[in-house]
Amino acid sequence: MATIIPVASFDCVVFGATGDLTTRKLLPALYYRYKDGQIPGTSRIIGASRSEMSVEAFRERARDALKRFVPARDLDEDKLAAFLDHLDYVAVDGAGDDGWEDLAAKLAERPDQVRPYYLATSPDLYGSICRNLSAHGLIGDKSRVVLEKPIGKDLKSARAINDAVGEVFPEEQIFRIDHYLGKETVQNLLALRFANTIFERLWTADVIDHVQITVGETVGVEGRAGYYDTSGALRDMVQNHLLQLLCLMAMESPLTLDANSVRDEKLKVLRALKPITPHDVQAVTVRGQYAAGAVDGKPVQGYRADLGGETESRTETFVALKLEVQSWRWAGVPFYIRTGKRLPQKLSEIVVQFRASPFSIFPAESFGREPNRLVIRLQPEEGIKLEVMTKDPGPGGMRLRPTNLDISFEETFKQRYPDAYERLLMDVVRGNATLFMRRDEVEVAWAWADSLLKAWADRPEPPRAYPAGSWGPTAAIALIERDGRTWHEEMH
Ligand code: BG6
Repeated sequence: MATIIPVASFDCVVFGATGDLTTRKLLPALYYRYKDGQIPGTSRIIGASRSEMSVEAFRERARDALKRFVPARDLDEDKLAAFLDHLDYVAVDGAGDDGWEDLAAKLAERPDQVRPYYLATSPDLYGSICRNLSAHGLIGDKSRVVLEKPIGKDLKSARAINDAVGEVFPEEQIFRIDHYLGKETVQNLLALRFANTIFERLWTADVIDHVQITVGETVGVEGRAGYYDTSGALRDMVQNHLLQLLCLMAMESPLTLDANSVRDEKLKVLRALKPITPHDVQAVTVRGQYAAGAVDGKPVQGYRADLGGETESRTETFVALKLEVQSWRWAGVPFYIRTGKRLPQKLSEIVVQFRASPFSIFPAESFGREPNRLVIRLQPEEGIKLEVMTKDPGPGGMRLRPTNLDISFEETFKQRYPDAYERLLMDVVRGNATLFMRRDEVEVAWAWADSLLKAWADRPEPPRAYPAGSWGPTAAIALIERDGRTWHEEMH
């Protein structure tokens, strides 16, 4: 069990305290950190939302949320009761004037606390919440603001949000969340690449044939159809999570692990991403939308039925892309990425396919001479597998077969993997922004996404239908097979 170092005492104000993110993610994450002794007893978590509610009522809501979203084996009644004692509540109108004096009075009780303001609200409110915080004198050296995605729906709206928040908070105090960066296995990419000489030396176009990044989900749009239909998979997943994974795979070694060094390197990758033009769009992109099908053996309806029978929606629930990073290191190495809802498996993985050996000394009948492959499993069944060729044992001659050097993190570390929000919330209190996105990163990623969205918008055809429970439209298979390659799962 790793040593847990307590963070400084804090008052975390959560705007959007009755919303889904707070209930599902933030309260459970804070509970775990409290239970493990990382949160000092003088800290407070102050819920803020428009609803009038007593502190007791807020604590009861929180208790229900924790009972739903924390497994029973981790819920210790005494710890739970003690945790709930640290919860407080103020009714505040993020868009208007009500409640701010009450919040200010509460915060004034403990002026020396670190003060994270977590904006788990609609992004439309970010500007007015920040203006109100400033107008009521609530921003000081120990304040930080945490912004949830989506930060805009294109470059223009992202800039407007960044401008509004930037008017009152300096960039070092702005923490833009991409929860993928808080996942243990995603941070492990940094360890894998920069703490092991064997991989880093091979991380070049000379040795790597291509890279695949897959983030599959079995869920549909659940209760978020309203948001999702104005977003789609490119904005919801690719512009942030998948591009961040690509950055961690493709970036050069940062000078140090400090926030700006890491973010400088990621930014260079984003800048080197080749824009997808209307001319290329047919060849290197596939958009899909799930139709009725079956997931985990259960029949499920299609996306348009999930929207309540809306028949015209052209929103994509699946994207596959062939990307190019225009740099010396990566020239000529495609990055194939795909993500979608209602796929057969919840699975996030990165596959590094090495080039075939240039020449074989083995006789043709030794078959199975497959190039090496590194498979990094981000979730679930987290681990790293390196496929190497070995001699098939026995006197049958020199026959080869692929075998795995296989590390399962579950078996190796035998401990619970903390949720991404646990790490990220503690980093906010510590003031460590390494795993958060800087303004320029978000905006360069949007500029790239905008050109693709525009190219799609100019095309007449809707996204291709795929049956729920499949790996997307067949065109996504063709996208990679045209290049003589295959998506990883097809090889199982
Ligand atoms: C969110 C998206 O950012 O990430 C969701 O808005 C998606 O649509 C989710 O389901 C996936 O996250 P995870 O951690 O379950 O892989």
